[in-house]
This record gives sequence, C-alpha cells and structure tokens, in this order.
Amino acid sequence: MTTTETSPEELEAQIGAYAERLFGTGLAAFEATIIALGRQLGLYPALAERGPSTAAELAEATAIDPRYAREWLEQQAVAGWIDVAGDAGEDPEHRRYALSPAGQECLLRPESLASVGPLFDFVAAVGPILPAVADAFRTGGGVPYADYGIHDAQGDFNRPVFVNLLTTEWLPALPGFAERLASAAPPAVVEIGCGEGWAAIAIATAWPNVRVDAYDLDDASIAAARQHATDAGVSDRVRFEVADVTNPDAFPADAYDLVLAFEMIHDLARPQQALATMRRMGTADAAYLVVDERVAEQFEAPTENPIERLFYAASVLHCLPVGMADKPSAGTGTVMRPDTLRRYATDAGFTDLDVLPIEHDLFRLYRLVA
Ligand SMILES: C[S@@+](CC[C@H](N)C(=O)[O-])C[C@H]1O[C@@H](n2cnc3c(N)ncnc32)[C@H](O)[C@@H]1O
Repeated sequence: MTTTETSPEELEAQIGAYAERLFGTGLAAFEATIIALGRQLGLYPALAERGPSTAAELAEATAIDPRYAREWLEQQAVAGWIDVAGDAGEDPEHRRYALSPAGQECLLRPESLASVGPLFDFVAAVGPILPAVADAFRTGGGVPYADYGIHDAQGDFNRPVFVNLLTTEWLPALPGFAERLASAAPPAVVEIGCGEGWAAIAIATAWPNVRVDAYDLDDASIAAARQHATDAGVSDRVRFEVADVTNPDAFPADAYDLVLAFEMIHDLARPQQALATMRRMGTADAAYLVVDERVAEQFEAPTENPIERLFYAASVLHCLPVGMADKPSAGTGTVMRPDTLRRYATDAGFTDLDVLPIEHDLFRLYRLVA
C-alpha cells in the first residue's frame, strides 16, 4: 500500500472546506430552531392570514411582544424564509413582511406533498430530550417514544403520503386489491403501529365499505387518532385501540385480508414478534404490506444523499433510543436495510418479501410473502 503525504497547502484547503461545512451545519441547526419557534407561536399562519404585516401587527395578531416579533421577522427575511413586502430600507417599525405562496404550501398545508413543516417540530423536540439520549448512550438503555412528545409531528409528517399516495398508488400496487377494496364485500383491514391514524382514515375515506382496525401502544396517539377519525366522519368504520403489537397471542388469528405496518417495524425492540402478529392475523390469502424507510441497500460513507443522512440523524436522536427502551432489544434503528427486514420476516414465519415497484424518496414498500 502506498500512502500519499498531504501537503501543507492541501491540509489548509481541507481544513477550510471542513470548517465551512461545519459552519453551514451549525447555522442550519440555529435557523431550523427558529422556524420551530415560529411554528410554536403560530407566526406563519398569522402572517399568511393577515397578508403583508408589520412587526406590531403580527405581534398583536399572535399575542407576542412586538420587539420579539420584529427580531423574528428580520431574521426570517434575512434567511430568506419570508419576504419583505416593499422597500427593505424602510423604517423597521413600518416594514412589512409576507409569507410567499411557496412558503405557505410547505409550512401551512398539512396534506400537501410539499409539507416540510413537521420536520421542525421534531427539531424542537430534540433539545429537551438530549440529556435522556446522552444517558441512554452511556448506559445502553433507551428513551420511551412517549417521552419525546412528537406524536403530532409524526402524524403530520406522514399524513401527506397517506392522503395522496396510499389509496391511489400504494394499495393498488397489491394485485387485485383496488377492486376488492371498492367492492360491496371488501377485505378486512388491520394496521399495526398506526400512530395518529392518518393511514387508516385515508383508507376508510377512499373506500366507503371498508372497515379498519388499528393498534398502537401510545395512548396520546390513539386519542388523537380517534379525534381525527371523528373529524373525518369515519369513526364508525375505523377502530383505534391501544395495544402492544409485539404480543401475537393478544390478537385474533385468521381475521384480516390486508395487514399493514407503516414506518414502525424499525422502531420496535422486538420486530420479529410484531411481524409474527401480522402473520397470525392474516387469512389464508391475505396481503401483508410493510412500508419502511428507503435506506441505501448497503452502508456508504460519506454520502451526499440527504435522505440517508436524515435517516441516520433520526436514528441517533430518536429511533434507536426508542427501540432500545424496551429490553431485550434488536437495536435496529432507522436504517433497517432490506436484508435485515427479510431476516426478521423469515424469523417470523414469512417465506420471503418483494419490493413493490413504487418510487418514493423516503419509503420502500415491502410485500411480505406468507
Ligand atoms: C414512527 S411511528 C409511525 C406511526 C404511523 N404508522 C405513521 O406512519 O405515522 C411508530 C409507531 O409505532 C408505535 N409502536 C411502537 N412500539 C409499538 C408496539 N410494541 N405496539 C404497538 N405500537 C407500537 C409507536 O407508538 C408509534 O406510533
């Protein structure tokens, strides 16, 4: 093996590039936190509703202090997240600010596929939980999902794909299911780890004869899911229950024709048991769909793929500590590669899995073969 000496000039350039990248990352973290602050205070919807506003007007509309409103507006405008309406040189007290149509779509439309706002609600959750995560790193323990207080953010983050893609692209990719779900005697559907219920609600909304049973361990998620179902007018056909899906014997056998798990298997301490629950619940010709992160098939570092980086960041700060909170734990983390899921599925009694031909930046769809 030959080693090449790094010249002082090369080293200086490398240090400069490294420092620049670190600086950009730190700046992004600061700015992300300020977007989270704006969301918590309701500043974006107020700006959108009011139209071009001064700091005093925004402060009055949102019941915050005008001096703070001015600082937030100036920071957001400097960072390019809101626009100065009119002359930027105007006296700061009279300067007006507006949220562009693009900003409104990304930050204020919860069902839009461009909705990125919930990411900042996760950012806000990181600060308070960091000591517990650090403790888990030291002890090998974990941090329970409920301690993060992110069930709304989690629900909001995936809601657009459930509303827009689940019933139009994803479930129709299971052969025959679009017709069966639309029929007068549709398949019985069950979902495990349903969170705030947006997937089950989307299914019941799309197909008026379908009934869905959905389970989650988190009380706050189930309470929110029931409310969302009532608001959507489908509470008579969607049943949400608190249950631990890693206990197969607690669930009925041969009861469902379509068995679903969305972005939850990697979070579990005992993923094989959850998959065994799915297998148990399915009828003889049931279809089993697991949707999980579209992580790279193999470790690759460094990567410029922002999605892979997002998955690793989520894993370090959230999914791995959550999965390690319950013992014994498989310690999966967000980056559950296809081979890992295949192993879990065969451990649980499935014979194989196929990846469905659905393109999506964040998610890969697996059909488990019983
Ligand atoms: C990442 S969230 C996904 C929620 C929802 N499927 C979605 O896509 O928004 C993972 C969910 O799995 C649930 N969960 C974790 N362990 C569970 C268990 N043992 N039994 C039932 N649900 C569980 C959590 O409470 C959480 O709601």
